[in-house]
Amino acid sequence: MEKTQANTRINELRDILNDASRRYYVENMPTMSDYEFDMLLKELEALEAQYPELVTPDSPTQKVGSDLAATKPAKRKVAEPRKEFEQYPHRYPMLSLGNTYDITEVQAFADRAAKGIPAEETALVPFSFSCELKFDGTAICLTYKNGRLTRALTRGDGTIGDDVTENVKHIANIPQTLKGSDWPEEFEIRGEIYMPWSAFDRLNQERERDEEQPFANPRNAASGSLKLIDSKMVANRGLECTLYHMLGEDLPFSTHDQALNKAAEWGLPVSDKRRICSTISEIEEFIKYWDAERKTLPFATDGIVIKVNQMQYQEELGYTAKFPRWAVAYKFKAEQALTRLNSIDYQVGRTGAVTPVANLEPVLLSGTVVKRASLHNADQMELLDIHVGDYVYVEKGGEIIPKITGVELSQRPADAELPHFPETCPDCGAVLVRDEQEAKAFCPNQSGCPTQIKGKLVHFLSRKAMNVIAGDATIEQLYNKGLVWNPADFYELEKEHLLGLEGWKDRAAERFLKSLEDSKNTPFERVLFALGIRHVGETTAKSMARHFKNIDAMSTASREDLLAVDDIGEVIADSVLAYFADGVNTDTIERLKAAGLRFEVEKEAEQLSDTLKGMTIVISGNFSISRDQMKALIAAHGGKNSGSISGKTTFLLAGEKAGPEKLKKAESLGVRIITEKEFLEEILHEIPDQVGNDDPDTSLRGASATWQSEDFKETLF
Ligand code: IVH
Repeated sequence: MEKTQANTRINELRDILNDASRRYYVENMPTMSDYEFDMLLKELEALEAQYPELVTPDSPTQKVGSDLAATKPAKRKVAEPRKEFEQYPHRYPMLSLGNTYDITEVQAFADRAAKGIPAEETALVPFSFSCELKFDGTAICLTYKNGRLTRALTRGDGTIGDDVTENVKHIANIPQTLKGSDWPEEFEIRGEIYMPWSAFDRLNQERERDEEQPFANPRNAASGSLKLIDSKMVANRGLECTLYHMLGEDLPFSTHDQALNKAAEWGLPVSDKRRICSTISEIEEFIKYWDAERKTLPFATDGIVIKVNQMQYQEELGYTAKFPRWAVAYKFKAEQALTRLNSIDYQVGRTGAVTPVANLEPVLLSGTVVKRASLHNADQMELLDIHVGDYVYVEKGGEIIPKITGVELSQRPADAELPHFPETCPDCGAVLVRDEQEAKAFCPNQSGCPTQIKGKLVHFLSRKAMNVIAGDATIEQLYNKGLVWNPADFYELEKEHLLGLEGWKDRAAERFLKSLEDSKNTPFERVLFALGIRHVGETTAKSMARHFKNIDAMSTASREDLLAVDDIGEVIADSVLAYFADGVNTDTIERLKAAGLRFEVEKEAEQLSDTLKGMTIVISGNFSISRDQMKALIAAHGGKNSGSISGKTTFLLAGEKAGPEKLKKAESLGVRIITEKEFLEEILHEIPDQVGNDDPDTSLRGASATWQSEDFKETLF
């Protein structure tokens, strides 16, 4: 290719790759497969090798992908909570791995590595490779000091990472203290946090039910979960960790294998699916074995990592700007299975969307037997040119059920039949309408189509919505008897109604009615979610409730008002407008209001002043009031609380027994350290009578007396 042409293509490739990288690492919504990405990257590498003068330091060939949310991502339809994490530099750069899909390149790597070490040395210490699974998750770097976990950083941009220590503490198989006592005083151990298939399927099932965008793959689910706002929620995501690389000064090991074995003795999660190989044929054997066997693993692996085992040789081989020269990743192509398409069902969801679902001849894929797969919509069926009776390729994608990615035309039977997407609702017979934006067919009979009505009722009572104890069968029974049709009907049920139903006894009826009564205290954001407005999942409902504060402001909001809400894009705004334009819905809301459900947010703590506006404050140690009260006090005066110190910290508010680490960090960054007394007197000017008392103890007691006055308690707590 000529230079000007190459330059144009290089720029184009960089734009595509940078965008794909941001979607993948920051937004957790990949736009292309790993294979496509790697092929484009290889094309860019080849062009840059041909014209080295066109290489720039910010080219995707020169840097590792970054998971730091440096720039605000584009508005997303549905958002995972995002948190501003403190960032810290990595002690050792956190690099990526060179990768290949070609076994001959693995051979070339092994040759290159072996030739990089003088023969005299390998004669003394034989060269070997450690072959391991490549875990498909998100990289993590753990620091242990004196046997205790002190910090967990994400890869970030390879140089600095996000501090996710609190979240990592909620991952069950990561120990906070190590067993034994022969660990180095300080060391780092890196690995991967991933989500096993079972947890991934469960999470996406929940998200689909809640109309939230499912995660595209377990890797995105893992990195999204690791960055959740609420650390405790991480515990419910079923994340796991496997550690695969130990680093530190003067580690007492001569091989990588020894280091990992020792780590396992200390209770750290290390994989036992490793093999030390001395020849390329052993490496190939390991790759072939796992390419077949990975289907039976309970988590996703996307390849095999081959590492030089001897630490001294690793050091001698060193690193390029992006990769170690002592390791390489052999990547598997996405896992597929070929099976027969027996028939197609057309399923109506609770919002009326009609989805074609393929019934397949059962086949094993990624550890589970697959019987059904999504065909998404009519366009997709047409694109695939799919016929009933065809042999189809199935892959695990983001949805609860796998997707069909292709048809094996060479195996099409003579009697294969072209399917016809129905024109009417398979449930109520209404003529379907097509939503152009989403290429989906919809049953417009929202308030008359039984599947939609029942689906909405089930959703209304579900755990994350009104959390009423009732199984799907109960709801079906109530619906079939004509007792409930609309969510508001639940609150008009009486004991006699229930006792008239088959199988209902006193206790069950009372329990159900009590649960309904209790649900009246459900916070507004969950009531909003329970209404089942299309595209308004849990997260969007939260944002909307916070923004509008009550249902009246929401129901009269214009499109522009809606678009001003965080995380609301055009699709959601239009759906909300359509919901409130329908009289059936506004009547339901009025009836639910009359029943006593909450349609406004609870009153927030009163703002006392904006003295601390724009300040980021870290607190450490004990104060004369509880730490939560201190945090509330800061917030009430307009300040922002932060868990750890960085350049952005305005000051460290240090109480008694303030953490020495925090004090040291504040000093090293030049962050001002102030006492409780200074905070009160000089900053908040809050001490009345006792000011002037030089004895810090008594003045502090005075201050706390002021803060804890009844007035203060009332405004804040
Ligand atoms: S070793 C200096 N071992 O794959 C690099 N990495 O695509 C040391 N990964 O950046 C990394 N399984 O996040 C290593 N067994 C394994 C791995 C592994 C997954 C990840 C890691 C790496 C990425 C490269």
